[in-house]
Amino acid sequence: MALPSKVKIVEVGPRDGLQNEKQSVPTATKVELIRRLGDAGLKSIEATAFVSPRWVPQMADAADVMAKIEHREGIAYSVLVPNMKGFEAALAAGAKEIAVFGAASETFSQKNINCSIAESLERFRPVVAAAREADIKVRGYVSCVLGCPWEGEIKPTAVAEVAWALFDMGCHEVSLGDTIGSGTPDATKVMIEAVAKRMPLKKMAGHFHDTWGMAIANIYASLELGLSVFDASVGGLGGCPYAAGASGNVATEDVVWLLRGLGIETGIDLAKLADTAGWISQELGRETQSKVARALLAKKAASLAA
Ligand code: HMG
Ligand code: MG
Repeated sequence: MALPSKVKIVEVGPRDGLQNEKQSVPTATKVELIRRLGDAGLKSIEATAFVSPRWVPQMADAADVMAKIEHREGIAYSVLVPNMKGFEAALAAGAKEIAVFGAASETFSQKNINCSIAESLERFRPVVAAAREADIKVRGYVSCVLGCPWEGEIKPTAVAEVAWALFDMGCHEVSLGDTIGSGTPDATKVMIEAVAKRMPLKKMAGHFHDTWGMAIANIYASLELGLSVFDASVGGLGGCPYAAGASGNVATEDVVWLLRGLGIETGIDLAKLADTAGWISQELGRETQSKVARALLAKKAASLAA
């Protein structure tokens, strides 16, 4: 199959990237990160999560983040919502897009949202219905699509079942999360093909963590099957609080570089994005995880010094 000519990138850095950060990140830093990402050309930015602050303290300022960001025309600022309480708070904060998040692993579902897969779907159903009533788009996530930290292997048919349930209840897109980043290209293809038997491929997104260094290879494998939406995190920020050892999402700069090499347009300004990766990494006191950002920043420093 020909590779897609256009790809949408959903920037999840401000949420997935920061949720596991041990140090408290000031709201102003999150707001500035979101501004810079918009400047770099990102059109879909997952801004925060309306989850229990006891479970994920870093997202406790969700309403404040939503109040302080500049809501720019043409940019979708989505937020994570686990239940009706989260939905009501997101609605009050002016969210126009939300995402519910389930899993293909029973144990992960319990650890992450304190309920079984079946219970989670019943919990999401009224959220999706209320959101659609309020003209709010809902995305669905499935975690552990290529492995679970507790259960190990996850059957592609189990992933397909949850993905279909989310699509069937009204999610406009279902993001398939390799939460622990253990997937490889062939396994990725088998999983996507299984899900594509239950729901349209055009409504699926790939969400790859880079823990085992396979994220870019898995994205390429997904592109070969025609997937055209990918989640990524600036500077490769992140990890999951309920998946020990999970590293960040694939770095947005690395995905943009891959796509650029394939002649696939994203509308993203790579130089501005690399600067943003450098800036947020400095704010967090570490080096950026993105090899592309590191290369670009080193090249820029060398040319400034020359
Ligand atoms: P629970 O303890 O079962 O909830 O947690 P509960 O309904 O029994 O309520 C307990 C307390 O939480 C109550 O407060 C509620 O008011 C409060 P108390 O009366 O004890 O003071 N509460 C809330 N507060 C704020 N916002 C809410 C909310 N709901 C209840 N929405 C719950 C269940 C789902 C709330 C909890 O487990 C939770 O918040 N989990 C979120 C975990 C999370 O955010 N994980 C990371 C995101 S998922 C991810 O990273 C994967 C992804 O990136 C894809 C991939 O990589 O695979 C998406
Ligand atoms: Mg994730």
